[in-house]
Amino acid sequence: MVCVFAFTIFLHSIVLVENIPADMLFSDDSAFHLPLSTGLNSLLDKARVAVEIVSPVWFLSPSDYVSSFYPAAGQGRALLSRLQGLKDKGIQLKISTGDFDSAELKTLADNHGAEVHKVNMTALTGGFLESSFWVVDRKHFYIGSASMDWRSLTTRKELGVVVYDCKPLALDLHKVFSLYWGLQHKTFIPTFWSKRLFPFFSKGKPGSLLVNQTKVETYISSSPDVFTTKDRSSDLEAISAVIQQARHFIYISIIDYLPVDSFASVPRYWSRIDGLLREALILRNVHVRLLISCWEETHPLTFNFIWSLKSLCMEQANCSLEAKFFNAQRDSSLSGMNHNRFMVTDKAVYIGNLDWVGKEFTYNAGAGLVISHPANVTERNSTVVEQLQAVFKRDWFSRYANTIQTNKIPVCSKQQINKSVLFKPSHRNYEPLPGQHDGNSVTELL
Ligand SMILES: *[C@@H]1O[C@H](CO)[C@@H](O)[C@H](O)[C@H]1NC(C)=O
Ligand SMILES: *[C@@H]1O[C@H](CO)[C@@H](O)[C@H](O)[C@H]1NC(C)=O
Ligand SMILES: *[C@@H]1O[C@H](CO)[C@@H](O)[C@H](O)[C@H]1NC(C)=O
Ligand SMILES: *[C@@H]1O[C@H](CO)[C@@H](O)[C@H](O)[C@H]1NC(C)=O
Ligand SMILES: *[C@@H]1O[C@H](CO)[C@@H](O)[C@H](O)[C@H]1NC(C)=O
Ligand SMILES: *[C@@H]1O[C@H](CO)[C@@H](O)[C@H](O)[C@H]1NC(C)=O
Repeated sequence: MVCVFAFTIFLHSIVLVENIPADMLFSDDSAFHLPLSTGLNSLLDKARVAVEIVSPVWFLSPSDYVSSFYPAAGQGRALLSRLQGLKDKGIQLKISTGDFDSAELKTLADNHGAEVHKVNMTALTGGFLESSFWVVDRKHFYIGSASMDWRSLTTRKELGVVVYDCKPLALDLHKVFSLYWGLQHKTFIPTFWSKRLFPFFSKGKPGSLLVNQTKVETYISSSPDVFTTKDRSSDLEAISAVIQQARHFIYISIIDYLPVDSFASVPRYWSRIDGLLREALILRNVHVRLLISCWEETHPLTFNFIWSLKSLCMEQANCSLEAKFFNAQRDSSLSGMNHNRFMVTDKAVYIGNLDWVGKEFTYNAGAGLVISHPANVTERNSTVVEQLQAVFKRDWFSRYANTIQTNKIPVCSKQQINKSVLFKPSHRNYEPLPGQHDGNSVTELL
């Protein structure tokens, strides 16, 4: 449990990074954090040797047409151009992605010396690579909801953390990157993983570090199980532990919540997280708040499962489940979407890459970060846990969070949802772009 890199221990620092769309309004006294693009640029400022990036999407530079409607889209282009310039500074750029074609990646590889390795998730698990993080010089890192998509830097609400000078934890995340790196051209999952990929820290053996002069216990988790090496905790183990350790409250901000495994030959109820929430609510009287996004692909059964959680508390003193959906969208471009994926409790935070839907953890690749207050420390400084609690409350009490009414399914999508298309893989299909289908929607956006 003792940090083996004790000589750097006092330098570890962590900063919450967010992208808040410019036209989104919160009350004046709300907490705001470092803009995501500033955070990512600060990582590039620090880079000396290697920048390693994994992202489910590569689309930093929109067309001039789209940019003309979103002046801030230039931030994506600026980031891309800094990545293109790394080689000239003698800095290696390594990128892991899923199996898709991106003109930007091709240019980065062909003209700017980037090494790009693709993971054929279709062959390996039948899922997608949803991981989204950066590791810089195996020392600094970013992890969060944003992908290398201009919308993550402009129109979508994103949240993540940047951690500086934290070699032990950055190395553990780098090992997740190395695992993807080694899967290039593979069509089967190796029976044995190299020992180099085993992490230092896990749920049972968290890193005990001083971050911003505050003692925390921390580790990196990953998904799916078939990519989880010996000693690595899975995302589900991490989420379970954070839920089980909560004593007073659990706040969850997520795009999709659906306890159904739809990839199974016959869709099945998937209880891994739902069951733990029920236990926390009714047996431990932990107060639960769920903030989910209301968007085109919100499955209508989401609301049935939430009502079912709510009704569990019927006539039970101190049992409280509150649910709201976040809806600031104006069109189909996912503008204004709350793309956050985190949980914060009275004790800990979990920031991950996956939605809380059955199939995600079984088939998709993602990573997560857990930071918790040690059980026996009561005196504490302002920490990332408290800051994230404040972020959650800001969103929860904002004008965009609507209480879910019983017996009424809110209209999240314009089209009537068709059961047979409900379970299609989502999120990576961000089309249509504003302006590409009809002129009216562009006007609506402005
Ligand atoms: C990925 O694997 C699938 C299934 O094995 C195969 O059909 C496809 O061609 C592979 N893609 C690439 C780029 O190799
Ligand atoms: C809070 O910060 C001070 C210095 O800024 C440090 O001495 C103290 O140990 C910290 N407390 C905890 C619980 O980490
Ligand atoms: C509910 O909480 C209050 C205050 O914490 C406590 O006094 C009361 O005994 C609790 N009731 C039950 C049924 O647990
Ligand atoms: C807290 O627990 C850790 C390990 O479990 C121990 O090393 C430390 O001394 C404890 N601190 C206090 C203040 O009891
Ligand atoms: C940690 O320290 C950095 C640098 O001093 C500061 O910017 C950041 O807000 C701090 N983070 C937390 C969670 O307090
Ligand atoms: C639902 O979608 C499927 C496949 O796209 C289509 O064949 C079917 O007719 C649709 N059903 C309804 C009720 O729209």
